[in-house]
Amino acid sequence: MADDKNYPATGTLAPVSPQQTLLVGVLPYGEGEPTNVLVKDGVIAAIGPDVQLDDDAKNGQEIELTGQVLLPGLVDIHVHLREPGREDTETIATGSAAAAVGGFTAVFTMANTKPVMDDPSIAESVWFKGQATGLCDVHPIGSISKDLDGKTLTEFGMMARSEAKVRMFSDDGKCVNDPQLMRRALEYAKGLDVMLAQHCEEERLTDGAVAHEGAVAARLGLRGWPRAAEESIVVRDALLARDYGGRMHICHASTEGTVSLVKWAKNEGIPLTAEVTPHHLILTDERLETYDGVNRVNPPLREHRDIMALRQGLLDGTIDCVATDHAPHSSEEKCCEFDNARPGMLGLETSLAVIVDTFVKPGLADWRFVAKVMSERPAELVRLPGHGRPIAVGEPANLTAVDTNKQWTSYGKDTQSKAENDPYEGMTFSSRVTTTLLRGRVTLHNGVVQK
Ligand code: DOR
Ligand code: ZN
Repeated sequence: MADDKNYPATGTLAPVSPQQTLLVGVLPYGEGEPTNVLVKDGVIAAIGPDVQLDDDAKNGQEIELTGQVLLPGLVDIHVHLREPGREDTETIATGSAAAAVGGFTAVFTMANTKPVMDDPSIAESVWFKGQATGLCDVHPIGSISKDLDGKTLTEFGMMARSEAKVRMFSDDGKCVNDPQLMRRALEYAKGLDVMLAQHCEEERLTDGAVAHEGAVAARLGLRGWPRAAEESIVVRDALLARDYGGRMHICHASTEGTVSLVKWAKNEGIPLTAEVTPHHLILTDERLETYDGVNRVNPPLREHRDIMALRQGLLDGTIDCVATDHAPHSSEEKCCEFDNARPGMLGLETSLAVIVDTFVKPGLADWRFVAKVMSERPAELVRLPGHGRPIAVGEPANLTAVDTNKQWTSYGKDTQSKAENDPYEGMTFSSRVTTTLLRGRVTLHNGVVQK
């Protein structure tokens, strides 16, 4: 579990709710008989079928959740909340609301904001805005290079020691192409025990590329992004992590070859980890036939065999976790020629449903797996205290409840996000988050955000 030795508390944590809440009839991890969970002073106070609110509880509330699955609050280590700079497409407040709808209690927001999150003051302002919003812990990710220039390292130590307690660094959106810079970053990260996350894209192989290099792109006349552009950086950075130490994490793994390389690196004992997005687990480049800009994303949607390898990699633990890469864009940036559309897709509100329908409903995995890949493992990777914890008495009440028989259809216009670039537009799912609690505070109740 998350080790909090080096990171006691992250800044000022949102006040816990003094209110008692009784979650009635839930199935922790989808197991056993329906039971009640009493939440008091921000922690789980009791679990059992006969547990009730205390007699003297003031304003205690009961939430009827009979038969719903209870999970630890979800953790997403890769989102883009666009604040500061592009508040027209997402803010910390709207992104936090989307997170609560998706069942998340902690998200990590990428550094490619305007200005770039490359110093402690920007990181602190993001952290404190998230705490003031109070719907989800919003952790800033520091950039690896100043202004994402790929040349000058930022002050990891100052950001790590700031009130924001930055614990992850990334130039995501861009690859750290210079191997010498990455080597220095790893050496520096090792000393601070922070994680580096690489957007693997050998830019000399992706000049002008907008789609996966394959038969579909060739037919549609779109410039292709070869698998080797991703895999060559994965292997280079694995070798750097082998020789210089430091924890290296692969963002949005998208190819069959990446899964094999991560497996090889782990077998060698290299401190390399990886995430996969929901969209790379279920969507292929066949979607590009319509030239709809909503399907443009970096790395691009690939082929069936990549999807199958990524699913297998997640199931067997080669791929550590799911991360959404929630990337809001305005309709002007998306509803245009495919070549000009900005890459990125919304993901926070749909990710749990995608994972459940891909793995749990077909019987490939159980709810413990969902808890592992969407909460426990991501919290562990970034050494995050208080999240990804067991559902047990005395643990922080970061929780989410899922109705597993609630057919619903996703529409971009219905999201809490400011943007509407939902790749699952019109798609129907079987399960939906109904309730989310952040340190005892109900942030989502019956699907309604509690602002
Ligand atoms: O599709 C993407 N969008 N991939 C990235 O790496 C960056 C992101 C963004 O910032 O929109
Ligand atoms: Zn990203």
